[in-house]
Amino acid sequence: MTHDTPATDHAHGPGAAAHPDFAWDDLYTGDGSDTADPDPMLLAPAHDLPPGRALDLGCGAGGNALALAERGWRVTGVDLAPRAIASTRAGACARGLVDRIELAVADSATWRPRTAYDFALSSYALPPRGPGRTATLATLAAALAPDGTLALGEWDEEVCDWAEPGDLATLAELTEAFTGLGLEIVRATRQAVPRIQHPGEEHAVIVVARKPRDTLGVTG
Ligand SMILES: C[S@@+](CC[C@H](N)C(=O)[O-])C[C@H]1O[C@@H](n2cnc3c(N)ncnc32)[C@H](O)[C@@H]1O
Repeated sequence: MTHDTPATDHAHGPGAAAHPDFAWDDLYTGDGSDTADPDPMLLAPAHDLPPGRALDLGCGAGGNALALAERGWRVTGVDLAPRAIASTRAGACARGLVDRIELAVADSATWRPRTAYDFALSSYALPPRGPGRTATLATLAAALAPDGTLALGEWDEEVCDWAEPGDLATLAELTEAFTGLGLEIVRATRQAVPRIQHPGEEHAVIVVARKPRDTLGVTG
């Protein structure tokens, strides 16, 4: 890693597209010991849904993906970092969940869904603002089945002062993007949340959206 500050400071920081030298993989062991706790706020929208197919785009070491699989969901986890995917796989093996998890090492900007998902999650894993982010948001929307639910959390650009320009997100850009992609916004909030793997809180933007029932399925 070429950055001066400690690796842990970057755990929710730069994305690979704007920082091609940022080594996300260095944040992970690959053995499952780095799997974070699930994020209750982002998983809450899935609570009342019957377990179906879930996508975790930028799944990291799999805390959320494994929690969904434990609740009966069939989960696809995608992440750029091979060791993150290895950790998710190790966690799935340890918990007897391998049959419910499909994993891919891939860039969210270019990965394409092969099925439609009832729940899609993006947990502090957006690429920086630009074509990669635009493509990732479009993929999240396209991946949803009609009536499917999306939950996205990202660090709030209007409050957080620790990131590179364009790394974080505003609520307005996310709600505008998802509305433009044909989703209905169910909830859009700015709030302090516990910062996973770190002590204390940080300010996040959280968007929950739904694909209307009368739209077509997966495109692009
Ligand atoms: C801050 S971590 C969050 C991990 C996990 N979602 C969580 O909440 O614990 C960000 C993750 O996004 C992944 N990531 C960053 N850019 C990505 C991209 N363009 N495509 C896929 N994954 C990406 C990183 O490898 C990293 O695992």
